[in-house]
Amino acid sequence: MASVDLNQRIPNNVGLGDDRRLRRALEAWQPAYVEWWKEAGPVGLQTSDVYLRTAIDVDTSGWAHYDYVKMPDYRWGIFLAAPTADRVIGFGDRAGEPVWQEVPGEHRGALRRIITVQGDTEPASVEQQRHLGATCPSLYDLRALLQVNVEEGRHLWAMVYLLHAYFGRDGRDEADALLERRSGDADRPRILGAFNEATSDWLAFFMFTYFTDRDGKFQLAALQESGFDPLARTCRFMLKEESYHMYVGESGLTRIVQRTADVLRESPDADPRSLGIIDPETFQKYLNFHYSVTLDLFGAEVSTNSANWYSMGLKGRYREGRIDDDHRLDSSTYSMLRPAEGRTGFETEEAPALNVLNERLRDDFIADVEVGVRKWNRILREAGVDVELRLPHRAFNRRIGVFRDVHVTPEGEGIAEEEWRRREGEWLPTARDRGYVASLMPKAVREPGRFASWIAPPERGVDRNPVAFEYVRFA
Ligand SMILES: [Fe+2]
Ligand SMILES: [Fe+2]
Repeated sequence: MASVDLNQRIPNNVGLGDDRRLRRALEAWQPAYVEWWKEAGPVGLQTSDVYLRTAIDVDTSGWAHYDYVKMPDYRWGIFLAAPTADRVIGFGDRAGEPVWQEVPGEHRGALRRIITVQGDTEPASVEQQRHLGATCPSLYDLRALLQVNVEEGRHLWAMVYLLHAYFGRDGRDEADALLERRSGDADRPRILGAFNEATSDWLAFFMFTYFTDRDGKFQLAALQESGFDPLARTCRFMLKEESYHMYVGESGLTRIVQRTADVLRESPDADPRSLGIIDPETFQKYLNFHYSVTLDLFGAEVSTNSANWYSMGLKGRYREGRIDDDHRLDSSTYSMLRPAEGRTGFETEEAPALNVLNERLRDDFIADVEVGVRKWNRILREAGVDVELRLPHRAFNRRIGVFRDVHVTPEGEGIAEEEWRRREGEWLPTARDRGYVASLMPKAVREPGRFASWIAPPERGVDRNPVAFEYVRFA
């Protein structure tokens, strides 16, 4: 396959130099993209020098290169993972047949929709996070935020490439519309609900990267199984970038818990909110919010769309190749929880496996996020702090699917709507809680090596540089 060509206006490994029409179309989209970045991207940092990694190759040996870059000059490019020789469709009605290099006519609409919805989340998260630079807890963390932001921009490029290269006129229209919608805009909102919520503080940012970026990981993992090979290869490379976003969320929350534990160990009897830290109760409320909102992103438990996309060979399961079954799901079942018929509480139903693929992917996600919670509880326990963080019940605070009309406590106890309204603030962040968190972050910490009171420093820096490295040079 073509190696990475960095001398082109659009760095790429898809042979753009040989495809004049496609190159011209993407070069025409590029200025609109940069305009969008300047208008909707990180505020007040467009002329600063940021120590960023840029993809320069797609193989495992050194695909990234670090240097100071002004973000509007970042080399956003188009990178696909190397093709797998003789790859066959791994699931669905056409399992075992060679993968498609072009879009099959009958799947055109479905594939365009899948790519557009995925593409829409990428710029949305940049928009949601655009004000965070003003309150960063350190230069190290500011760099991490901006790295995530430019890579979400690159993920937009990845989806736009597919739209331009494989969907003709309709694809170009969708690519334009991706730059026109805005997160939280009343008239032109982003497609998915969670991507219209503002990420207003850094605790929310780390929760977002821990939970919501991880939804992205699972969606991309299901799409890298696709029978449409260009989509599969695109997602495979995006997942390499996504693993850094997981790291930012996981390590950020771990450092917050570490700081809280260290301070509470010294002052076990003080009011935690007098100590300049994020108290465990506030941490738990944010966790409840971001977890439940992210569960909704997986969609309704029972989904005809997902069933069709699976049978068509468009979107698989998480680690499809490692699952030992027929990969068609005509006759197998999968157990899912639902509100009990006519009584309070829940019951388990053995549903046709093909119909509940969203629920299965959600289960894979839940198993993944439990790992972090266990780690944070270990840190608290070792410091002698007597609280246990928990993922709330899966029916808690849901807007989509079978739990949307029930009201339950984080423990899963059914309550009346009126009681929910009265007690919601015990479980989800209130304006007062958000105000407290904001009060911890009055302004950006910009001195190399310094960290805000509420977060522990990381163990090591980036790209073998010290923690106190000048990761951002302000203009
Ligand atoms: Fe992304
Ligand atoms: Fe991400």
